[in-house]
Amino acid sequence: MEKIVILTGAGISAESGLGTFRDEGGLWAQHRIEDVATPEGFARNPQLVHDFYNARRLQATRSLPNSAHTALALLEAEHPAQVIIITQNVDGLHEAAGSRTVLHMHGRLAGALCAKCGHRWAAPDAMRPDDPCPACSTPATRPDIVWFGEIPYHMGEIWDHLRDADLFAAIGTSGEVYPAAAFVQDADRHGAHTVELNLEPSSVVSDFSETHFGKATETVPLWVKNLLNG
Ligand code: NAD
Ligand code: APR
Repeated sequence: MEKIVILTGAGISAESGLGTFRDEGGLWAQHRIEDVATPEGFARNPQLVHDFYNARRLQATRSLPNSAHTALALLEAEHPAQVIIITQNVDGLHEAAGSRTVLHMHGRLAGALCAKCGHRWAAPDAMRPDDPCPACSTPATRPDIVWFGEIPYHMGEIWDHLRDADLFAAIGTSGEVYPAAAFVQDADRHGAHTVELNLEPSSVVSDFSETHFGKATETVPLWVKNLLNG
């Protein structure tokens, strides 16, 4: 079986009840990115940022994976070590559906990070700025989330996967944020077949060889079924 690299965005979790960012009424219509998703915003008002992520963490723990997440887990189960998920999402729905190889390039709501010593641990339900770090005791706790202007996680491994991909799919992402939005060009340059599965054309739709528009819970299970049936 060929190597399949899949990039997912907020759209794959939309039908699990988690808001996207740039759709009508999305998170960026309710909150200013500068206030809740930048290091400067955290320095200005850490409590506001913790409140934002505490609310999303609570919502995410109450959400269930949908049939798009489950279809990707089935694809990996049928072809272990050949399916890699790179997600921009910070929820844990891919893992909850059974996916094993998931790279969270923007971090995870389930993680806490010490801004002083870099120690990571499981985030409590409600984090507060003066929570002491379990390793160095400094009250410098932040969500383990990559904010605008910061470097995404796992980039070395991600470039290697894109170089080796035979098939690259992007699911539920608007193609508005880099470097994720350019992954399709890199995979294409290395000879991968590229597929976009999204509610509507993304900003980078012209970079894809194949497109399927519709809800992820409809397009993804069908796409996986056709892949498995050859
Ligand atoms: P970017 O400049 O590529 O951001 C593109 C989009 O993000 C913009 O079109 C806009 O919609 C939004 N945006 C970014 N900064 C904004 C601001 N200050 N006000 C309003 N909208 C803003 O993203 P970037 O700043 O180059 O990101 C750098 C790194 O941060 C990237 O590598 C990305 O992976 C990471 N990142 C993380 C998150 C997160 O919430 N975890 C979000 C975006 C980016
Ligand atoms: N099925 C498929 N696609 C959907 C669905 C659905 N049910 N609902 C929405 N979409 C699509 C939208 O059409 C849109 O193109 O999902 C995409 C969501 O785009 P964004 O809200 O921009 O989310 P995303 O692409 O993940 O944002 C990338 O930006 O702000 C940062 O940290 C944030 O990681 C995120 C990054």
